Amino acid sequence: MATDTDTAARDALAERLFGAALGAYELLTIHLGDRLGYYRALAEHEDSTSAELAAATGTQDRLAREWLEQQAVAGILEVDDVEAEAAERRYRIPAGHAEALIDRESLAHLTPLARLGVSLAQTLPAVEKAFRTGGGVGWEEYGDLGREAQADANRPVFANLLGSEWLPAVPDVHARLQADPPARVADVACGAGWSSIAIARAYPKVTVDGFDLDAASVELAEVNLAGTEVADRVSFQLRDAGDYELAGSYQLVTVFEALHDMSRPVEVLRVLRGLAAEDGAVIVMDERVADAFTAPGDEVERLMYTYSVLCCLPVGLAETPSAGTGTVMRVDTLRRYAAEAGFTDVEVLPIEHETFRFYRLRG
Ligand SMILES: C[S@@+](CC[C@H](N)C(=O)[O-])C[C@H]1O[C@@H](n2cnc3c(N)ncnc32)[C@H](O)[C@@H]1O
Repeated sequence: MATDTDTAARDALAERLFGAALGAYELLTIHLGDRLGYYRALAEHEDSTSAELAAATGTQDRLAREWLEQQAVAGILEVDDVEAEAAERRYRIPAGHAEALIDRESLAHLTPLARLGVSLAQTLPAVEKAFRTGGGVGWEEYGDLGREAQADANRPVFANLLGSEWLPAVPDVHARLQADPPARVADVACGAGWSSIAIARAYPKVTVDGFDLDAASVELAEVNLAGTEVADRVSFQLRDAGDYELAGSYQLVTVFEALHDMSRPVEVLRVLRGLAAEDGAVIVMDERVADAFTAPGDEVERLMYTYSVLCCLPVGLAETPSAGTGTVMRVDTLRRYAAEAGFTDVEVLPIEHETFRFYRLRG
């Protein structure tokens, strides 16, 4: 028989699920607005009717009107006069919201998370299959949406923090990147290349080689680099970082938010150790997860476990053999991988961030 405590727990969970469903559905409408260029078009004018928005974006007035009403009801957009005829109402992006919705270099820009959610949902049948029959799901199966969401989600932190806070927090590395002879940087698993571009922008002498084994990511990185002021100092190559033939001598070797995705992290770390010059540093940025399993967990831990179940662990298991790491790569796991790869020490760097943690691998 259900006790009062059971009933309260039931109601609390039901309420939470309702809130989660509402958030998820609204996120889908944000994704739709993002894809259709609605937010961008709205931002270009002081305010717009549905017909004006539809004309500006080449979309259907009736559907645009429903979306505008939904966004206003959700408190994402503002509407001038709620009592006006539907077709006459004028909608605008409130001050502040534009930055979160469309400013791709703002730390507040969170629409990539909507895109990621859609990519995760689209790939769910393949994930379900992996749960049933084994194997994994290749990163490429998350498609352009997944790749672009990953790139756009991290672009603001690279653009705003990597060269101005994170690398300067490692004084000898910061000094070496500014010194002569010009330093070489290997940015391993560079994805769409925003980290490589940010390093080159912050340190005008360095050259950066970005490596990634996903052909579409390397193409995207080349598009992102083209025409920038650092295009002559950054290059991207389609390479597997676990390939022992990957050679070079770099003053800085970085892996940003990727080690936990790799099927063979120890092999990759061994290659990275070989890539670092005598005066070189190896820096790994990965998720800021707790040091030990704890449940229930905080929001960051909850977020990382959702990524792990829906994406990173299936991606890591797509190749065999696989270490089967998943997003929740705890510091002890990294220490073990690093030791197996020949490093003698893993230092947790004194860099504060809500979702990332930084490690320097030595030896
Ligand atoms: C989560 S994404 C991170 C991309 C980028 N560093 C960022 O922060 O946006 C992981 C990346 O690791 C790449 N990757 C995974 N295993 C790799 C390997 N063995 N060698 C090179 N790249 C690899 C994937 O192709 C993907 O682009």
